[in-house]
Amino acid sequence: MIERLAEIPSTNGALLARLGGGEHVQEGRWLVADRQSAGRGRAGRVWSDGFGNFMGSTVVHLRASNPLPQTLALVAGLAAHESVMALAPQLQDLRLKWPNDLLVGETKLAGILLERQGDAVVVGIGVNLVQSPDLSDRATASLAALGFTITRDAFAAELAARFRDAADRWHYGEWPLLRQQWLTRALPTGTLVSVKDRDHGVIMGAFAGIDDDGVALLRLADGAVRAIHAGDIDMVGSHASGD
Ligand code: BTN
Repeated sequence: MIERLAEIPSTNGALLARLGGGEHVQEGRWLVADRQSAGRGRAGRVWSDGFGNFMGSTVVHLRASNPLPQTLALVAGLAAHESVMALAPQLQDLRLKWPNDLLVGETKLAGILLERQGDAVVVGIGVNLVQSPDLSDRATASLAALGFTITRDAFAAELAARFRDAADRWHYGEWPLLRQQWLTRALPTGTLVSVKDRDHGVIMGAFAGIDDDGVALLRLADGAVRAIHAGDIDMVGSHASGD
């Protein structure tokens, strides 16, 4: 079920408040806003409001048998990628960037924010369907500017179905297959990237995929492979040699 609201501060915030108030929010339920006055991005950033864009959140309830919760971020990215490609099959070069951005080339089309409350994870997804913000620190894209007309409600229906399917598969032991599917839609291994690491500062290396727990792997200049557990990966150049 998709609940539509005209304007709220943040769909993630609203679902967290409902959960915090003791409401049982069922899996498969989405909260979608026409406008967000205080949209939240990763790492404390702001997510720009954009009428006509998709801005929505849903809930996954963690079970003892689930893979690590961090892998859910990748599953959400996969569902978002599948949804965009289903509605814009001619779109070129749509890639997942760890942990869960959607890029067209080097420009950001969509972002995903997971926020946890007890055993519930709120998954919030923002997709630039018709407009993209001008940001000083990163280039952004919208599907409309790329020539694809997709209504917010068509996207919401597609995403709700695909996320439901992916989350069910995640619950029922298919993370290894979902991981493989994520990798086929991700930046190619060998792509030169940098990451800001809390302990080591900025690290440059070649993207070397993800491990079984969804942790990003970076091949350094000396050949060592570094596991990246948190942070943002940025592309620093074009595709280098694969590995
Ligand atoms: C990112 O920084 O890339 C994550 C952006 C996530 C934005 C979405 S829009 C719907 C949901 N509600 C929010 O406040 N944020 C997420």
